Amino acid sequence: MMSIATDDVYLNGDYLPLSQAKISVLDRGFLFGDGVYEVIPAYAGRLFRLEQHLSRLDRSLDAILMQNPLSHDEWERALNRLLQNNQDQDYAVYLQITRGAAQGRDHSFPPDLKPTTFAMAYPASQPDAELIARGGSAITLPDIRWHLCHIKAITLLGNVLLRQQAFADGAVEAILIRDGYAYEGSTSNIFVVRDGRLTTPPDSDLLLPGVTRDLVIELAEANNLSLILAPITERELSMADEIWLTSSTKEVLPITRLNDEPVGAGVHGPVWQRIQDLFRHYKEQLRAGQVA
Ligand code: PDD
Repeated sequence: MMSIATDDVYLNGDYLPLSQAKISVLDRGFLFGDGVYEVIPAYAGRLFRLEQHLSRLDRSLDAILMQNPLSHDEWERALNRLLQNNQDQDYAVYLQITRGAAQGRDHSFPPDLKPTTFAMAYPASQPDAELIARGGSAITLPDIRWHLCHIKAITLLGNVLLRQQAFADGAVEAILIRDGYAYEGSTSNIFVVRDGRLTTPPDSDLLLPGVTRDLVIELAEANNLSLILAPITERELSMADEIWLTSSTKEVLPITRLNDEPVGAGVHGPVWQRIQDLFRHYKEQLRAGQVA
């Protein structure tokens, strides 16, 4: 395999420096946010749950009437090539597929467009140890997004505004409320613990089926933790003993303040600690090449 520079990116089959990666201003990703994406952590150069991320990518593409321009094997080769000189620390891979550039600007699209396919790797800092120890704060906000939140669409303006509002409020995340139920955060999934039992909302069009969330569910089930997939009311959220957020970048983050009130005892709880240990162990196994 030919070596590539550490900052090379992948664009439509080529590997080239970021500064030379150019796309048309008529690209529908630019004009309409017409595309989908994935963020995949890489620990010691090993991609975290690659197959699950690529399956979700296929489902997102399916939902927007597109086909994956690359096979899973081709994706694996391309992403590993981006990572080959980037194993000194933890990285994340971002990949995005847009519908491509049409002749002009029309909301409806011609059938034969050539998709724009892009990927890059960048250093991912480990979640802040102090934040994890202390726990983060979150606020609840009305979910102003559309109704197809299971698609990992690049059209993220709702998420951007919600996250920004949380940030302006000094919180790490906004937990989104729709019709009295908490579905997910603006960039993460949610879990709550009440009386020792773990709950996360079931898959639906109103939340992204997180790959980190699915691993947490798997770890909980494999280790006999009490877990149910059930809707979480806003009241249940506010009465929880523990709240956690999960995502590729946050991993499993305890939330110890919600809307300026302590969650449970106001410190991270025992169920979170158990999952955190299991999650850490999984990452160590991944680093050692023992799991995918
Ligand atoms: N976001 N829900 C939303 C709305 C998200 O944006 C994300 C992740 C998740 C968690 O999914 P996963 O565990 O597969 O990362 C849930 C990524 C990290 C982002 O947009 O950068």
